[in-house]
Amino acid sequence: MRTQVAIIGAGPSGLLLGQLLHKHGIDNVILERQTGEYVLSRIRAGVIEQTTIDLLDEAGVGARMHEEGLVHDGVQICVDGVRHRISFKEMTGKAVMVYGQTEITRDLMDGRAAAGAPTIYAAYDVSLHDIFGETPTVTFRADGKTQEIACDFIAGCDGFHGVSRKSVPPNAIATHERVYPLGWLGVLSETPPVSEELIYVRHPLGFALCSMRSPTRSRYYIQCGLAEDIDAWPDERFWEELRPRLDDEGRQRLVTGPSIEKSIAPLRSFVAEPMRFGQLFLAGDAAHIVPPTGAKGLNLAASDVRLLSQALVEHYAEKSDAGIAHYSSRALARVWKAERFSWWMTTLLHKLSDDSFEQKIQLAELHYLFRSQAAATVFAENYVGLPF
Ligand code: FAD
Ligand code: PHB
Repeated sequence: MRTQVAIIGAGPSGLLLGQLLHKHGIDNVILERQTGEYVLSRIRAGVIEQTTIDLLDEAGVGARMHEEGLVHDGVQICVDGVRHRISFKEMTGKAVMVYGQTEITRDLMDGRAAAGAPTIYAAYDVSLHDIFGETPTVTFRADGKTQEIACDFIAGCDGFHGVSRKSVPPNAIATHERVYPLGWLGVLSETPPVSEELIYVRHPLGFALCSMRSPTRSRYYIQCGLAEDIDAWPDERFWEELRPRLDDEGRQRLVTGPSIEKSIAPLRSFVAEPMRFGQLFLAGDAAHIVPPTGAKGLNLAASDVRLLSQALVEHYAEKSDAGIAHYSSRALARVWKAERFSWWMTTLLHKLSDDSFEQKIQLAELHYLFRSQAAATVFAENYVGLPF
């Protein structure tokens, strides 16, 4: 088999890249280790920025998002039972959209199927060869046979645990990491959200987040320990832990019900540098991870894909390799801004230790955020996403 771009991973990064390349007549094949159903069963991101919305439109898969997505003009932050609102519209003139990653993935899968572009699911033992040479190849096992794809470029869109980043010689890559001593326990339930806007909660019992997927479907998270066993969390226990972290109005309006999904995600900051190695490019979670507190992971993945697709279009259509040469530095400049914001928001809102000094500083910083127009504007600018 031969293609122009071999894409590893059919998460949002790989599918979006494939769709944008296809629009520009660039051949690509996606290899995904899991089945399509499994990919769709992972409940992850909920908030997307305008630049991500624009890119999904450009890829031709934005119609359902505009019908079903919920536009949010602001966000609420509840500190020890008192709620504050930060208006994105007033501070920046912009908004974000609540539209689940599962739905984006479904729209991208449908778009790819309609375009007739190939995705090979259940592709095992994917292995990258000759990434610094002229004609790299990818080998894998599917349908019981070992197969090979020859290509011009490989896009490593295979997430944090993927094979692409691990295929790079250790002396060619630097990594920077922060592991937090906690995770998020998330519950999806067929109940109306507690508020029309997201509520980020700072409380002595620990962080909580009230989010949503639709006017009838809620997504809640609470901070939990890293060793936590999901089976030790029957729904009742989750609601009992969430309720006291809310303010009076939140407690009154909280509608509980059976969970339809429950999972634990560890919190991590991670960056691999550079993001290009010869003919191999890394994009999305394969190159960097942010803790979910700033709602940045999927948006960063989309911004990598925007830069990478433009670079590849320039290569094929304009015979210019400037975009390819600058891909890594341009992507990393955005990555580090999002890393800073996500780290800051995480340390601002979680109970990271029993250290009373740390907790008092957290409260002082939050009060500054609510009192200072300048601080609130910086927060809003970062949350809605920095322009290109
Ligand atoms: P992934 O989604 O991880 O996709 C990678 C794909 O590659 C997977 O399908 C995987 O199966 C496949 N793969 C892996 N290894 C191989 C291999 N060896 N061979 C072939 N295929 C392979 N982001 C936001 O922007 N906003 C939010 O509100 C937000 N909330 C979040 C909440 C939670 C609880 C979590 C966990 C994350 C959240 N994120 C959020 C982050 C967001 O989900 C990720 O950044 C996003 O999924 C990255 O997409 P990706 O395609 O790069 O990687
Ligand atoms: C979500 O709805 O899943 C969500 C929203 C905001 C975040 C993280 C996750 O910061």
